[in-house]
Amino acid sequence: MALVKDILESMEYGPAPEAAGEVLAWLKARGRFGHFIGGTFTAPGKTFISHNPAIGEPLAEVTQGSAADVAAAVAAARAAQPAWAALPGHERAKWLYALARHIQKRERFLAVLEVLDNGKPIREARDIDVPLVARHFYHHAGWAEMLADEFPGAAAVGVCGQIIPWNFPLLMLAWKIAPALAAGNTVVLKPAEYTPLTALAFAEICAEVGLPPGVVNIVTGDGDTGAALVAAEVDKIAFTGSTEVGRLIRSATAGTGKKLTLELGGKSPFVVFADADLDAAVEGVVDAIWFNQGQVCCAGSRILVAEAAEADFTARLTARMARLRVGDPLDKCTDIGAIVHPVQLARIHDLVAQGQAAGAQLVQAECQLPARGSFYAPGFMTGVAPANPVAIEEIFGPVATLTSFRTLDEAVELANNTRYGLAASIWSENISLALEVSARIKAGVVWVNCTNLFDAAAGFGGMRESGFGREGGREGLAEYLTLPEVAPLPEAAPTPPDAAPAPTAAAPGGIDRTAKMYIGGAQKRPDGGYSYAVAAGDKALGLAPLGNRKDIRNAVEAAHKAAVWGKANGHNRAQVLYYIAENLAARAQEFVARLAEAGQLAPEAEVQASIRRLFYYAAQADKFDGAVHATKSAHVTLAMPEPWGVMGIACPNAAPLLGFVSLVAPAIAMGNRVVAIPAQAMPLAATDLYQVFDTSDLPGGVVNIVPGARDELARVLAQHDDVAAMWYCGSPEGGAMVETESAGNLKATWLPRNRDWQGPGGQGREFLRRATQIKNIWVPYGE
Ligand code: NAI
Repeated sequence: MALVKDILESMEYGPAPEAAGEVLAWLKARGRFGHFIGGTFTAPGKTFISHNPAIGEPLAEVTQGSAADVAAAVAAARAAQPAWAALPGHERAKWLYALARHIQKRERFLAVLEVLDNGKPIREARDIDVPLVARHFYHHAGWAEMLADEFPGAAAVGVCGQIIPWNFPLLMLAWKIAPALAAGNTVVLKPAEYTPLTALAFAEICAEVGLPPGVVNIVTGDGDTGAALVAAEVDKIAFTGSTEVGRLIRSATAGTGKKLTLELGGKSPFVVFADADLDAAVEGVVDAIWFNQGQVCCAGSRILVAEAAEADFTARLTARMARLRVGDPLDKCTDIGAIVHPVQLARIHDLVAQGQAAGAQLVQAECQLPARGSFYAPGFMTGVAPANPVAIEEIFGPVATLTSFRTLDEAVELANNTRYGLAASIWSENISLALEVSARIKAGVVWVNCTNLFDAAAGFGGMRESGFGREGGREGLAEYLTLPEVAPLPEAAPTPPDAAPAPTAAAPGGIDRTAKMYIGGAQKRPDGGYSYAVAAGDKALGLAPLGNRKDIRNAVEAAHKAAVWGKANGHNRAQVLYYIAENLAARAQEFVARLAEAGQLAPEAEVQASIRRLFYYAAQADKFDGAVHATKSAHVTLAMPEPWGVMGIACPNAAPLLGFVSLVAPAIAMGNRVVAIPAQAMPLAATDLYQVFDTSDLPGGVVNIVPGARDELARVLAQHDDVAAMWYCGSPEGGAMVETESAGNLKATWLPRNRDWQGPGGQGREFLRRATQIKNIWVPYGE
């Protein structure tokens, strides 16, 4: 062992290991672990081994959960749920508070156990993860207390299946369990197979505080156990993990009615402008990518640096990298610990090799890695072409890519050049520039002059293929609540209409009953030149264009071109909506006649309700706004509702005008552009709106109307990569199809049931919430 005088000479850090004795004794005493079901541990079944990745040796034996184990856990959760939900919020708050207290009491134990199982450095587990876990339970104890006031009428979803990854085992558990319990749900949680141990220690804490049996159930196992949980009788699945598995889960839950939130992968940009505080930005890289061995879904793994600062920044980064200490995760001086599993280590080696083969250079710290265990020296890659695998795939290791840019526009373009959209970090001393870029980057979380900050009061979650739904804060809690059911009205799957060549002449009687499509602000004939007959009973009403795949593609393209609508402010959008309402009112009698002709029972009321609905969403256009969360000191977090961009909307048959307006108006009020499939049975009421839109200053391309076979067109919209969200109001089979077809690009879907559109369920903030996604922007504020 080095003597003090030697250390004073070399100024080397001495070893400062955290003691692991207590945890090892606990593991030994427990022997093999069963599941935690109904408040007790089951006898271990077929087991697998969880290893300590820092030394590559077995830590514990854990049970591989079978479908029967999952079913038993779900049954326990189901049995416990009504009583748990029926508790006054204050009582649930007390339980959550007790959990938080006990976690704090066992902070050191939990941190050491996490380090042994995951390989992350003790400093991270002790100073970041476990305190955030306790904070999460405290924060949600508060939500339980306030639930009835803050979410009047809302109810728990029921039994939630929760599946988490290995990078933040206990923190992800807290993110999942705390809001679920606060809202009155019971849970079955499956930890990752590499890191199940802190979840089992948490189970013990649940038993220790006397949490009612069945409220929290933990089933261990691998992906098969996860798949069994997805297939089980649960009401919601909350998943964090890879995009690939997220897709499988989207497909598996399609059409089941299970609520779903997905927090998936990322390839987050870390953008450094020339005027940034470069030393702070370099420390940001330490946090963003070398922190937690780069095994962070929101890791800023693509460094984009202004060309003017590139040389300076790279030199500072290289110097800092050389001083990082890689090694024993239990040592308090270690910066970079072990990679969670040899499989993951092999994946990092493989991806980096692929990157090098494709022309990139690896700059890596020359550090002495421990002789055993899974370790990887920190590094970054330069000369990375956009198509290089390391520029596209998540490396999930302590290796970033470094690319330069010249202009702000180029920085934004590079930042957005990914299928993901989880997070971004922006570094500039120019606040206007930083906030402009924050607005233009497509990511669910943006950190300005900071990175990897998390707090229970702020939402977290991605855009695009990084998933949908948010965790944390009010937004996260809402994912665990349901609003009172709006009584659904039946809506059958309409048969595909018969195509007929479009006639060239107007129908007899002088009225033009041959509707056209409306794309990019102009009337268009369908691409195939076909129409279909619209009839009420045996009365022919006219012909509607029969849209096809190409028409949808044209409409999506037109919608993309109308991006300026998303940039208009709420007041401007309100003006246009008021104007549409006014012009609809001026032509009300024509619409009444059209609906009467179609056999609608209350045509006058439908038109009047449509006008009122437009007024309502005009009113909301500049009022449905975000929030400012007081999160960390010297920061605030802006929760900004942003439009999805281009949305697909399939409208119900029941109220051809009001159904259309009820869905399209909130979407455009929030700044989306829409491709709408009007009521298949009676599209003429909606296609007639083109005249109203044309006279109301609605920019071309904001609303596009493509009539035709609803489910066929909805399928094209669901599959379309450039449609960010899809609402489908139709048959249950059609809804299942939309959810299945959207799995490829993981677009957010909503299946509002057909309903009494004139009743209270026909409008409200829920439509606006569904028309937006929250971007959480962390900005420096205060001292
Ligand atoms: P994974 O997505 O396979 O595992 C995450 C969780 O899902 C684990 O609990 C696993 O048992 C479970 N799971 C696996 N297959 C399932 C299925 N078919 N149905 C239900 N649950 C299933 O991630 P994995 O294999 O651990 O890591 C692979 C890559 O995924 C990483 O290299 C990284 O790129 C990414 N990843 C992203 C994470 C994030 O936080 N976004 C976390 C972990 C991994």
